[in-house]
Amino acid sequence: MKIVFASNNKNKINEIQQMLPKEIEILSLEDIKCFVDIPETATTIEGNAQLKANYITENFGYTCFADDSGLEVNPLDGAPGVHSARYAGEEKDDVKNIEKLLTDLKPFSNAKANFKTVICLNLNGQQHLFTGIVNGEIIKQPRGTQGFGYDPVFVPEGFENTFAEMTMEEKAIISHRGKAVKQLIDFLTKMQFQNS
Ligand code: IMP
Repeated sequence: MKIVFASNNKNKINEIQQMLPKEIEILSLEDIKCFVDIPETATTIEGNAQLKANYITENFGYTCFADDSGLEVNPLDGAPGVHSARYAGEEKDDVKNIEKLLTDLKPFSNAKANFKTVICLNLNGQQHLFTGIVNGEIIKQPRGTQGFGYDPVFVPEGFENTFAEMTMEEKAIISHRGKAVKQLIDFLTKMQFQNS
C-alpha cells in the first residue's frame, strides 16, 4: 500500500516510514510530482491539515495524510495558532517570531500555552483526524539551541528544560507532533494487520 505524506520534509518522512509496517510505503510530494505550494488558507490548524490532504486526494487520487502544527498561547486567545510560522511577518523568521511573542506577552502574568499538531488522513473515502497536544509555559528568556521555531521559550508541563534544551528523541516522546504521529501509526498498523 502506498500513502502520500503531503510534505517534502525528508526527516519527517523517514521518521514515519521507519515506524510503519514494511507493507506501507510513504511517498513524498516530489515522488508524485506535485510541485505546487499547496495554499494554507484555513483559519484553524485542523483546517490547514484538511486543505493539504484534500488537495492531494482530489487532484492526484492518492490515499494521503497531511499535518499542520502551531503554538496556542492562552492569554493571547490562542495566537499565534495557525499563523505561528509567520507571526512576525511573511519571511518565517524564528528569532523575530519569538521576539514578537515575548513583547505581546509582557502585559500578562499568565504564560500558559500549548503546541498542537493535527494530522488529517484521507483513506478509502473517509477522513480521520489525529490530534497531539503538549501543554506548557512560555518563559521570558530563550534557552537552548536544539530544535526550531518557539522551542527556546517553551517549557513543557512537568519539565524544567525548554524543548530547545532537549534532544530530538526526548522531545519526540512528549511533543504534540510525536503524539499525533503515534496515533496515525497505531491506526495504520492496526488497519494493515486487519487486512493481512
Ligand atoms: P508546521 O505546520 O509543522 O510547519 O508548523 C508551523 C509553525 O509552528 C512552525 O513554523 C513553528 O513556528 C511552529 N511550530 C510547530 N511545531 C513546533 C515545534 O515543535 N517547536 C517549535 N515551534 C513549532
